[in-house]
Formats: sequence, structure tokens, C-alpha cells
Amino acid sequence: MRLIHCIPVVLASCCGVRAVDEQNGFGEQIIFDDDVAFNERAGNVKQVAIVGAGAGGASTAYHLSQYATAANIPINISIFERNSYVGGRTTTVNAWDDPTKPVELGGSIFVKVNKILNYAVETFNLSTRQESSAGVPGAALAVWDGQEFVFVQEGNYGWWDTAKLLWKYGTAPIRTMRLMRTVVGKFLEMYDAPVFPFESLTEVAHDLGLLAVTAATGEQYLAENDITGAFVKDIISASTRVNYATNVRYIHGLEAMVCMAAEDAHAVHGGNWQMFDRMIEASNAKLYLDNAVTGIHPPAESGSLTVDTQSTDSDDPIHGGTFDEVVIATPLQFANLRGDFDIDEIPYVQLHVTLLTSPHLLSPAFFNLSSEKPVPKIILTVLPSDEEPKDGPDGVGSPGFFSISLLDPAVNPETNGQEYIYKIFSSEPPNSKFLSGMLGFQQPEGDSDDDISEKDISWMFRKLWDSYPYEFPRVTFEKIKLGDGLWYTSGMDSFISTMETNALMGKNVARLIVDEWVGKRQASLQL
Ligand SMILES: Cc1cc2nc3c(=O)[nH]c(=O)nc-3n(C[C@H](O)[C@H](O)[C@H](O)COP(=O)(O)OP(=O)(O)OC[C@H]3O[C@@H](n4cnc5c(N)ncnc54)[C@H](O)[C@@H]3O)c2cc1C
Ligand SMILES: *[C@@H]1O[C@H](CO)[C@@H](O)[C@H](O)[C@H]1NC(C)=O
Ligand SMILES: *[C@@H]1O[C@H](CO)[C@@H](O)[C@H](O)[C@H]1NC(C)=O
Ligand SMILES: *[C@@H]1O[C@H](CO)[C@@H](O)[C@H](O)[C@H]1NC(C)=O
Repeated sequence: MRLIHCIPVVLASCCGVRAVDEQNGFGEQIIFDDDVAFNERAGNVKQVAIVGAGAGGASTAYHLSQYATAANIPINISIFERNSYVGGRTTTVNAWDDPTKPVELGGSIFVKVNKILNYAVETFNLSTRQESSAGVPGAALAVWDGQEFVFVQEGNYGWWDTAKLLWKYGTAPIRTMRLMRTVVGKFLEMYDAPVFPFESLTEVAHDLGLLAVTAATGEQYLAENDITGAFVKDIISASTRVNYATNVRYIHGLEAMVCMAAEDAHAVHGGNWQMFDRMIEASNAKLYLDNAVTGIHPPAESGSLTVDTQSTDSDDPIHGGTFDEVVIATPLQFANLRGDFDIDEIPYVQLHVTLLTSPHLLSPAFFNLSSEKPVPKIILTVLPSDEEPKDGPDGVGSPGFFSISLLDPAVNPETNGQEYIYKIFSSEPPNSKFLSGMLGFQQPEGDSDDDISEKDISWMFRKLWDSYPYEFPRVTFEKIKLGDGLWYTSGMDSFISTMETNALMGKNVARLIVDEWVGKRQASLQL
């Protein structure tokens, strides 16, 4: 049973980055002036610690190993992950706790041309899936404003080809697509020399002309490009809400454009986390799960950093120690790390993700439809036209949720009955009143999940994520190099927060580190 799915297939993917140069994957040729004899003389194995085994940390490890090998520098990578699993914000849980039915709980989709992820799929022989809930009645996707559907797309075909879209919104969709392609084209320059590797996100954004895009809100940036009106309100805002829990009035222009780059959305069969798991495996890094890094101390005289770790398992020996380089691949504000890092705390979205299984289809009455009318399978939301958009957690507004998706039909392994797997994104946990309304069953007496009959909801999983920043407009981004031997990938989160971009930042840091080693080696050889 293929169960991973996510949010809107056609509209809501993230980071539809189209590769400019397809043949140049991530193992591009690096020509280093290497000197094997040097390493032998020094007996110098570079010790690297990575904090976090998500997209950023896994990509750092993989690319460090590739670049160091190419430069003939012996390397020993240790990855510390406080969770018991690899993937971080990209992870699955199993419907009915059945391991054959994994469902994405975090990062769900990417596009075929996301260079690093797609290359990982190929290199590690993973398979992908695209289709959703085919065969289940109802339109593929719709936008609900809390009172009515302002847009309905019947079929599962490409978003931009929809004649209806053009008929309803005139040339705005085409102009938005053109603008998106220009912006994404600039972003893609970050993958290749001379822009790659970049030492500062702020500078690279400036050099590529992207600061003007991040400085404006999505709404402002679109208006500057003569895109206003119903298309922005109905469609672009639905997309920024499902992807980043933010109305288009408050999210920055770059992230709004990324939300519209949705061609060829897909996911790894069995779970996207496998890409990161395979990267770590291929890097030969030592992976310490259930090991939190609790502190990083400034360079001792030797020039190395001390890393303190704590395992959840008291029998597990301490794996921390001293390292030449430490890469922090997680948002520092949630890392619970002692140290002086000079990274600003920024507001992150607290997103409630609810996965559940039920034999019921969505209730037409809940969506003000007549009882014989099937409800669309993916429901995005926008605010009604008379409602002022707010920012922060109040941004969800009167519709009360960001999205409801019927992901897949599936057979309940206990009853053998036909059921459906749903995913809800909201800023409050959906209560039994909401759930019974949404699925059209009798509201239970009590408020607790246990009061809901298994006949109505047979399995439910609730997760509160610090999912991504609120992505407010900004013109400076966090540093990449925090000090000697100390690196940070998660500044990427407030620029573009996706699996691909965090993997790109990991690759970038890997290249900066190895370039620095090579530079030092050359300098020392010239002495
Ligand atoms: C609900 C949801 C939906 C999303 N949808 C999409 C989508 O469709 N497409 C997409 O591309 N992106 C999506 N994203 C965003 C994407 O998941 C993230 O941008 C990406 O996974 C972040 O990767 P990361 O490695 O930077 O951080 P993380 O995945 O957060 O990894 C950081 C890791 O560091 C660990 N850690 C933290 N502190 C410590 C410590 N002190 N010691 C040891 N380990 C530590 C954490 O446990 C974690 O595993 C979504 C996110 C969420 C939450
Ligand atoms: C590699 O790092 C580990 C810590 O994770 C350490 O125990 C080991 O001695 C190191 N090995 C080499 C060859 O440097
Ligand atoms: C790749 O996967 C397919 C099935 O998914 C398998 O048949 C094949 O042997 C795999 N190839 C490699 C090189 O692992
Ligand atoms: C349902 O739709 C009717 C018109 O179709 C409208 O008058 C009514 O206000 C709607 N009800 C709700 C709860 O939105």
C-alpha cells in the first residue's frame, strides 16, 4: 500500500526548483591540488562533529565525505542526533502502527528537479510516488474560505494547465508563473560556481538580486509586478497558508514564489527520510542516535572545539570530545545548547499536524454542500473577502484550519474494512467537535480522544511541530560560519525552509570546510 502523501499535489509543494544544469548533480568535479604525502606526514585525520541528522546534517556528512575524498583528506565524521531516528522534521509515522503504512508527518513533497534530493533518489535507488487518492470520489483539490469553495479543481492534472484557472483569473496565473520562474532561476545560481560555495546568505541574496524579493511581503512583491486581486487572495494565499501557515500578506516574497513552484511534486515511496538515512550511510559517518549535544566550547589552544553530549541511555558511553570542526544543523533556538552563538531567536510556526484514519468520507454538510455531493479530497483555505488577514497564530482566521487532505484509501488491518487516511494542518489541535463535524459522525459526550469511537476514528496521531519560521520579510540572514571551526546550516530556514534548501546549505558548508582545509594545506606546504 502506498501511503505517503501530503498536501496538495498540484499546488502546494515547495521549492519547485528547476535545475538549470541537469548533468551536474552533486558530485561535481573538484580539482584540488592534493598532496598525499602531506597527509601521511601529518597523520592528520580531520575530526568533524555534526549536530542533527535531518536534511541539513545528513547532506553535510554526505558531501563532506565526497569532497574530502576528492581532496585526499582523511576524515572522521560523528553525527549526534537527540531523536531516536534519522530525518528530523522529515519523518513518517505508521497508520494503525502498521509498518507497511508509513505516512509523512513533516516534510512531504519535493519536485523532480530539486537537484540534491532527486540525485539522492537516483543514487540510492529509491522509488518515488506521485498519485494521491485516485478512485475516491470528489474533486482533486479546492480552496475553502470557511463559507464556500472559492476554487475547485476537478482532476489531478497540472495546476497551470487548468483552463478554468485562466478563465477565472485572467492572465494573473501566467504572469505569476513567469515571475516565479525568474525568481527560482536566480535561486538556482546558488548551486554552482561562481556563486557556490557561499560564505554568507545575506551577501548571496544581495548579489543575486533576491533581497528585493525577501524584503517585501508576498502581496507587495506580487503587486510590484502588477499581480493583484482574486488570484492572489484565492490561490497564492491558499498555497502560502498550506505550505507555511501564513497569509500572503505576511510571508516574504521569495517564500511566496517558492510556494507557487509546484511542478512534478512527488515523495519517496516509504518515506522521504530514507534519502537522509542513505546519505549518512554513504558518508561512513558514525551516527549516535539518542545523543543530544548539550554544549559546544570555544576553541581550546589546540584549535579544536569540545562537544558535550548526553545519551538517553545511561549504558551508552560518552561519545563527545574534541573536534576540528562542528556543524550545527538544527535551529539553535530549539537545540538546548550551551555556548555563545550570536544567533537571533525568531518566531517559528507552531503547527499542529493530525493524522487519522476513518471509514467516513468528508462530510458535505460541514462544507455546506448538499448531501449527495462528494467533498473535494484536498481542501486548502483562505480568508473570506471581508476578513482582514492577521499574522502569527491568528493568521488561520475564521476557516479554523490550514488544510485537510484525504491522502489515501487503506484497509484497516484489524477490521479489514475500507478506510481513508487524513492529514490536518491547523494552529490549534482539532477537537472532537471539529473532527465529528468534518467526518459527519455524532459528536461524542466527552472531549478526550478516547471518547471517540473506533468506528469513527480508528487511529489518530497528533504532533505539534516547530515547523518553520513565520518567514516575515527580512534583508539579513544568519551567519554560516559562527567562529573558528563552528558552522551553522539553519539560517537557511528563514530564507527558504524546505528539505532541499537545507540539504543545499549542508552541501555548501561541507564545501566551505574542505576548501578551508585545502587552503591551509597549500599555505603550510609553501612555508
Ligand atoms: C509539517 C511540515 C511539513 C513540511 N512540508 C514540507 C514539504 O512538503 N516539502 C519540503 O521540502 N519541506 C517541508 N517542510 C520543511 C522541511 O521538513 C524542513 O525544512 C527540513 O526537514 C529541515 O531539515 P533540517 O535538517 O534543517 O532540520 P531538522 O529536520 O529539524 O533536523 C535537525 C535535527 O537536529 C536534531 N537536534 C536538535 N538539537 C539537537 C541537539 N542538541 N543534539 C543533537 N541533535 C539535535 C533534531 O532532533 C533534528 O533531528 C515541512 C515541515 C513540516 C514540519
Ligand atoms: C572517530 O571519531 C570517534 C568519535 O565519534 C572516535 O571515537 C574515534 O577514535 C575516531 N576515529 C579516528 C580514526 O579518528
Ligand atoms: C534497485 O531497486 C530495485 C527494486 O526497487 C532492485 O530490483 C534493484 O536490484 C536495485 N538496484 C540496486 C543497484 O540496488
Ligand atoms: C451555506 O450556503 C448558503 C447558500 O448556498 C448560504 O446562504 C449559507 O450562509 C451557507 N451557510 C454557511 C454556514 O456558510
